[in-house]
Amino acid sequence: MSARTHQFISQPDSGAPPLSKEWRVRRRFDRRLRLLGIPEDLTGWSVLDIGAWHGYFSFECERRGADRVLAVDRFAWDRFGMDEFLAAHKRLASRVEYQHLDVHDLDADTIGQFDLVLLLGVFYHLRNPVAALERIARVTKRLLICETHVLLPFIHERYPLVPFFPGDERAGEQTYDLCGIPTMTGLTEMVRFAGFSEVDVAYRPSFRYWKKFVALVTTRPQSGRGIVHARP
Ligand SMILES: C[S@@+](CC[C@H](N)C(=O)[O-])C[C@H]1O[C@@H](n2cnc3c(N)ncnc32)[C@H](O)[C@@H]1O
Repeated sequence: MSARTHQFISQPDSGAPPLSKEWRVRRRFDRRLRLLGIPEDLTGWSVLDIGAWHGYFSFECERRGADRVLAVDRFAWDRFGMDEFLAAHKRLASRVEYQHLDVHDLDADTIGQFDLVLLLGVFYHLRNPVAALERIARVTKRLLICETHVLLPFIHERYPLVPFFPGDERAGEQTYDLCGIPTMTGLTEMVRFAGFSEVDVAYRPSFRYWKKFVALVTTRPQSGRGIVHARP
């Protein structure tokens, strides 16, 4: 993680967090950056960061030399997360553009296409993930990086399963606690059928066999991190 992004994470306007918490956040974001495989040098690339929230990855792409970065979000920015983004934007004297936009409303005719599209920690929030992926395919020029929780059932992990999820708007009404997390196979198939011709698994959940064992004992599917890289 760069000194610049460290500064953003470690000095929120609302007062410094306890050191242990700060260390955990740094470690988590360092690890995510390592696993995601975002190109080190983004000179000449345009980037769309969907569900940017605090903007960490938008600012990191700007630091890596991207020509243009557009951060979009809806849910968090409508309710509680916009101030964090704006504070970081100001502190970093950033040129990152931002727009309140729902992923389901992405429109290539309005916002154009982007070399790199980031969909990090957003997929499992969506009510209509395939419809969203179809929109995303139309705005992606070179590479989509999608990071999400994926489903780890005891068996049938290689089957394209997805639990029903009503979307964040109605999640409070559901009686189960899993959201819209597909199996790794489900994720790659959904991305492929949404319009991407090349889909590579960049990361599978760690401790898979332990989690599958827990799923067996508790009769409840578990989850872990999955990352795919997809090209149109
Ligand atoms: C878990 S946070 C991930 C934040 C950031 N991308 C990261 O990886 O650290 C999920 C973000 O997705 C946003 N989000 C959820 N549904 C969305 C939608 N339909 N359109 C755009 N953003 C959405 C939320 O507002 C929230 O900021």
